[in-house]
Amino acid sequence: MGGSNPYIPKNEATPPEKKFKITFLPMNVTVEVDPEKIPYGVTGLPGSILDVALEHGIDIDHSCGGVCACSTCHVIVRQGAETLSEMIEAEEDQLSYAPGLTPSSRLACQSVANGSRDLIVEVPAWNRNAVREGH
Ligand code: FES
Repeated sequence: MGGSNPYIPKNEATPPEKKFKITFLPMNVTVEVDPEKIPYGVTGLPGSILDVALEHGIDIDHSCGGVCACSTCHVIVRQGAETLSEMIEAEEDQLSYAPGLTPSSRLACQSVANGSRDLIVEVPAWNRNAVREGH
């Protein structure tokens, strides 16, 4: 389920134009993002880390439904952070409540990669729902 938060300015993220990969840690699952398949329309901004993760069975917590109103989709971007959409103030505010905050932290529902580099994204233990890896 996608959605938007009417109380915050719209995040104008640029979707990727070429295929790239996201590796999710610690499960070490790599998925390919195909711009032609975006929007997946699961949850969060179209093509966001959360949208990609849920589409591929990586179940990151997302209590507010991907509308930048919680911090449960907090992830740590280990590689490729510079390719992500700029952090808007609302994301910064919500992120400040996330446990285990690092300089590489982002909200997965608000972070859309432009595809110029592969990403490595760590999902903190407390934000992992049941991870469905096909077994
Ligand atoms: S799911 Fe709530 S801010 Fe991302």
